[in-house]
This record gives sequence, structure tokens and C-alpha cells, in this order.
Amino acid sequence: MEHFFGNQSDNSMYLQEKPESNGGTTLIFSLKERVGALVRALKLFENKGITLSHIESRPSRFAKDEWEFFVQMNNDNDEMDTLVRDLREEAAGSVHELTRGKKKNTVPWFPSTIKDLDRFANQILSYGNELDSDHPGFTDEKYRTRRKIFADIAFNYRHGQKIPRMKYTDEEVQTWGKVFSELKNLFPTHACQEFLRVFPLLEQHCGYREDNIPQLEDVSEYLKSCTGFQLRPVAGLLSSRDFLAGLAFRVFHSTQYIRHSLKPMYTPEPDVCHELLGHVPLFADPNFATFSQEIGLASLGAPDEYIEKLATVYWFTVEFGLCRQEGKIKAYGAGVLSSFGELKYCLTDKPELRPFEPENTCLQGYPITEFQPIYYVAESFEDAKDKVRKFAQNIPRPFSVYYDAYSQIVEVMDSLDKVHKLAWNVRGEMETICSALTKFQ
Ligand SMILES: [Fe+2]
Repeated sequence: MEHFFGNQSDNSMYLQEKPESNGGTTLIFSLKERVGALVRALKLFENKGITLSHIESRPSRFAKDEWEFFVQMNNDNDEMDTLVRDLREEAAGSVHELTRGKKKNTVPWFPSTIKDLDRFANQILSYGNELDSDHPGFTDEKYRTRRKIFADIAFNYRHGQKIPRMKYTDEEVQTWGKVFSELKNLFPTHACQEFLRVFPLLEQHCGYREDNIPQLEDVSEYLKSCTGFQLRPVAGLLSSRDFLAGLAFRVFHSTQYIRHSLKPMYTPEPDVCHELLGHVPLFADPNFATFSQEIGLASLGAPDEYIEKLATVYWFTVEFGLCRQEGKIKAYGAGVLSSFGELKYCLTDKPELRPFEPENTCLQGYPITEFQPIYYVAESFEDAKDKVRKFAQNIPRPFSVYYDAYSQIVEVMDSLDKVHKLAWNVRGEMETICSALTKFQ
């Protein structure tokens, strides 16, 4: 361990000043000698998410009942000013800032393995049983208790575990049944071909029935066998950054609770009807799965303003996207496919339709509590994927990412070795393609 005692520079009043070569921050503060004083002071660092790289102490030379602490941090932090202020209160005035690290253009943290998604469970923006006053279940204690059970399951879920099976009540199944039968009548005329191809398979393999709410675990396993997509229960609202990051690993964060029985055709938030009837069918389609993952990969480490843009692209595609098939407009967005009213409305001549172009789409504002006045129309999922990929190239990131599906790891392509490895993989696949083609001759 490095020591700073006994080798003072001329102008230092306390300990040797040794600024961090990497531009970190160093502080000296003194504390009165009393039980728990240091713990309280260190708690201030912890609360600000600041990790100390070095700490030393010695008795103060100026006050008999005080100790001095020298601390180093490798990172600067936006909250350094408030930390110094808080520390000054705790330390009764004696805080000396020796060096202040320069704010760097840091890349926001992002998960690099699928297991890293476990971290998101603890950083939800609101818990699943916290309902707004205009929520249909706001005054229903029984419903709120039920929501808490679902939220707790998701909160405690960790990657690799089976998603706990829920025994839904008769009332919940009836609510599901109403939504299921109404929507199922509309799908043949309103949903895209890919959706219609998969839906009967979900009825066949995953228990999609009017009198049964499918279990997330069964659905997740089925999706894995189709496209490698999987569901993960979520306890509440995730930030856009975290939600999109899940897609990079082909993980979709899904609710498990159902809307309130009072209003079966309305929900102010995603529920199991929205996830299972809106989202799931298309995640079983290879092109749509790749398209969704592309948005997720583009989001990793992207600056905040691009996260907002990608979240908007996600909104107008995965949630509210329309597409053109055999000259007709069809729905593929989960928000429309899971809403009886909006599914009918979106194919009328009332809303405005525009071609999907990520550069423009990402700037469009949208309402969240009423039908969309504007929809964007994709020519195909493949075309939409190519456009998102081109759009992602404009995101200012000092690296490219590549998803290794075997290890479920996002590789940051920051070395020639990694690019070589990828090139060899692609070469192997190209050889398989060439070999297969010769067999057709
Ligand atoms: Fe959704």
C-alpha cells in the first residue's frame, strides 16, 4: 500500500499531495474523534456512487480530538460539489480539495454479459404496485396487494432462473379472456403476416387460450427455440437506457400482472395482455427479432440524447409500427396489436402515415395516453433493420459492438484481435454458405 506520511512537500499543510496521474480527485478532511464519524462520512461517498481508490488517516496536528483523512477517487463525479458541501457539514468545516479530476467524455456503463441485466432489477424507476391516482385499481387494496406479489417476484428474479409460474385468479383470467377474444377477431384483417403465422403456434405450444393466461416461462422457452429471444420479469418501470440494453441480448423485460378488471379494454401501462398478445408473437419472427436487437445494440454506451432518439424509434416501430404488405397497411407494433380501439383506428384514414426513416422518426413527438396521430410505415423488417443499422453508425461512440450469441456477450470491437476473431467467424459462415450453394448445383 502506498504511504503518504513522512515525505511532505513544502507547501502541504497536512499530508503529501500526490495528484492522480489519471486526473482523479483528492481530498483531505478532518473529523472529530467520535464513534461512527468515519462511517457517516464514507456513507456520503457511497450515496453519491463514488468509489474511493485510496484512503489514509492520521491524528490531526491542529486539534487533539481530530483525525485527518486523505482520500483519492479515480473518477470525477457530477455530484462532487454537493459531496464537498455535505462533507464539510459532517467534518465541521475542515475539507481541503487538493486536486479535482477533469470531467472526461466517459462512455455510460452498459451490460456486457446477459447476466449483467440482473443489475437493472434494483434500478427500476417505480415499483409495480405504485399506482397513479387515475389508475383503475388505485383504490382497490386487493388489486394493489396482487400487484405487489408480481413486483416482488420480478424484483428477486435473477438471470438463469425459471420465471415463477403464477396462479391467476378467475377474475384475472376473465379479464384476459375478454381482451383475447376481442383482439383475436381483429387480427386476421389487421395484423401483419408474420404475426398471423406465429399466433396459431402460440396457441398450440404456449397455452394461448381465452380461458388461460399463458405462463411467461413457457412463452420464454418457446421464443428461445424460435429466435433466441427470452422474457425476463420486470418489477416496474425501467429507464429507456436499461430497457433498450435488454434488447441487445435478445431479452425482453415483461410484466406479469394483468390490468384491472374494471376496464378490461384499457390499461394505462403495459400488462401481461400487452406483452403476450402485442409483443410476443413478433419476437418469434427472425427478421423482427434481429430488427429489435439492432435497436438494443445501437443503444449500448450511446449518449443520453441518442437514447432518447432510439427510444422514439422503438416507440414508432416495436410499439406502434405499421407496415406495408401486398399493397395494404398492416399493424406490427405491440401497442396497436394489444389495443382493440387503436387497432381498428390505425387502419382508418384518420391518422397520418409516413415512411419509416429513423433520422426523421427519431425526432417526432408523440402522445402516450391517446391514439397516435402519426404512424410510421416500414417496407419490411429487413429494410427497417438496415435503416436502424445505418442510423446507429451516426451515434457518437468510440467503438463498435458485436453480439456473440454463443457466449451471450457483447464484444466491444476495440482491438485488432477481436476484429480478426469476428472475421474468422464470418469466414467460417461464408464457407458454409459457399459449400451449401455448390450442393444445389
Ligand atoms: Fe410494449
